[in-house]
Amino acid sequence: MTNFDVRHTDTLLTTTRAVRKRLDLNRLVEEQQIIKCLEISQQAPTGSNRQGWQWVIITDKGKRRIIANYYHQGAGDYLEERKNSARDRGAEQDFKVFESAQYLADYMEDVPILVIPCIDTSHMPLNASGRKWLSLGGSIFPAIWSFQLALKARGLGSCITTLHLAYEREISKILDIPETFAQVALLPVAYTKGTNFKPANRPPVSEIIHWNSWN
Ligand SMILES: Cc1cc2nc3c(=O)[nH]c(=O)nc-3n(C[C@H](O)[C@H](O)[C@H](O)COP(=O)(O)O)c2cc1C
Repeated sequence: MTNFDVRHTDTLLTTTRAVRKRLDLNRLVEEQQIIKCLEISQQAPTGSNRQGWQWVIITDKGKRRIIANYYHQGAGDYLEERKNSARDRGAEQDFKVFESAQYLADYMEDVPILVIPCIDTSHMPLNASGRKWLSLGGSIFPAIWSFQLALKARGLGSCITTLHLAYEREISKILDIPETFAQVALLPVAYTKGTNFKPANRPPVSEIIHWNSWN
């Protein structure tokens, strides 16, 4: 017996979506909300218990515009092409994702808060193996997800995005991010329009589970 309300916990875990079109671009987000959610995210696991992260919060309108511009350029024709291809294949769910991703790319500068989680790479050996890079990424994504869950519990929404990374160097310069830190994602954060998010369609777990052996 635990103190958790499992129903609420499961609802939070299954309805925290990538929010794009339902970000409320007209409502201010209090700094305190971001600080609290980041505080919660700090409990996430990391390799070697390192917590080698820094989080850059961008509220400045001018900087948001520049970053959003780079994001748009990073998206280039990619989203449009993926959207059209999904439509031609009759893949409705994919079409919706890319249409919504295009919307976010078009309105990124209007999102009240942009959050860029960064991870320290200074301890990474030259020519680090893929396994080491995977482990580094695995040492920040749990915290990113915790941050998103904490936001959701407070009526806020976010979306992991990475298309700006094509211009990581330029954005780091604008934000004075040291060269030893890699940007991992760009999270637009805002209150959501409504809070009735649903679980997404996912393949049944029986297709991905292996008890004791792959076969
Ligand atoms: C590593 C990673 C990178 C992503 N990059 C982008 C991105 O650049 N732009 C975007 O709109 N969504 C991006 N997403 C969000 C996914 O498209 C989204 O999680 C997926 O479509 C499932 O939607 P759901 O989270 O609502 O279930 C990314 C997600 C992850 C985990």
